[in-house]
Amino acid sequence: MADKQIIILGIESSCDDTSIAVLKGRRILSNFVANQEIHAEFGGVVPELASRAHQQNIIPVIEKGLKEANCTLQDIDAIAYTRGPGLLGSLLVGSSFAKGLSIGLNKPLVEVNHMKAHILAHFIEDNASTPNFPFLCLTVSGGHTQIVLVKSPLQMEVIGTTIDDAVGEAFDKAAKMMELPYPGGPLIDKYAKLGNPNAFPFKISNMKGYNYSFSGLKTGILYFLRKNKELNSNFIQENMNDICASVQHTIVATLLKKLEKAVTDFDIKEVAIAGGVSANSELRKQLKAKKEDGWIIHLPNFEYCTDNGAMIAMAGQFLFQNGSIGSLKNPPNPRMKF
Ligand code: KG4
Ligand code: ZN
Repeated sequence: MADKQIIILGIESSCDDTSIAVLKGRRILSNFVANQEIHAEFGGVVPELASRAHQQNIIPVIEKGLKEANCTLQDIDAIAYTRGPGLLGSLLVGSSFAKGLSIGLNKPLVEVNHMKAHILAHFIEDNASTPNFPFLCLTVSGGHTQIVLVKSPLQMEVIGTTIDDAVGEAFDKAAKMMELPYPGGPLIDKYAKLGNPNAFPFKISNMKGYNYSFSGLKTGILYFLRKNKELNSNFIQENMNDICASVQHTIVATLLKKLEKAVTDFDIKEVAIAGGVSANSELRKQLKAKKEDGWIIHLPNFEYCTDNGAMIAMAGQFLFQNGSIGSLKNPPNPRMKF
């Protein structure tokens, strides 16, 4: 990158995390995330509560982020924010804030697509490795499940997607059925470490091409738990580790099946993962094992897996360098296209 010293402020507020980051070139100077614990008791994100919490968090998070980066707002060259996809009320907080800053400071705005930013987080300097183009990225989050062919930072093509639930949603819904709090994905990961992945077999879906489906698994788990709870009301508590390991094993096998097909068909062995579920330890372990088949694997740092401002700043850096400047007139876009 020619002008490495450009400083970008990244603002992320698409779901339930309020985050800002300061990025200089590709180096993160600060990356603060305020999580919203309020949703745990409701078993999922409550949009109205999420937007209120963003309002409360955004100023303290910005203040902390600038202090940690040893920066003032005057040092920022451009303001990158998540325009979509996401929850409208949540997006409105970040986008209005970004626009206010842009007007007040007379600095350019950069509109970032959240899903592309998850992928571009790989180009932040302190990751263990950086992918070479072209590469395949399995983007797995609470809202999306995609296999993306990444030709350059700004040229990406979705080659496969879920036709129903996202994989993070599958983790969270399975956890909810096991009476675990939201977000259940990290808890399933934790309990699975102590369980037998082959204890309870669940079906691996097989959709057309590189597509995924997780709704069948959700129904399978529901009937499985219902049947066993009728026989033993403590079934879940007594088998928590084995159920979690079995569910996780099925989900990871489903993800890998289509990824393997894409690697073979496109003859691209450079493979990355992104999004909240890329923090999953079993997915990371099984991907690392693929190195034996010649795959070149890129796993993002944990802080760049779940939603964060750093990835928005990194995507913003690429867009800004490309002259892609946003408009104050553009509203947030909850269904923003890839
Ligand atoms: O990317 P992200 O932070 O937000 C969205 O854009 O959706 O992803 C959140 C999702 C949640 O569904 C959460 O349960 C899941 O990522 N997740 C995990 C793990 N850590 C987060 N799922 C499985 N194992 C994990 N370790
Ligand atoms: Zn995300």
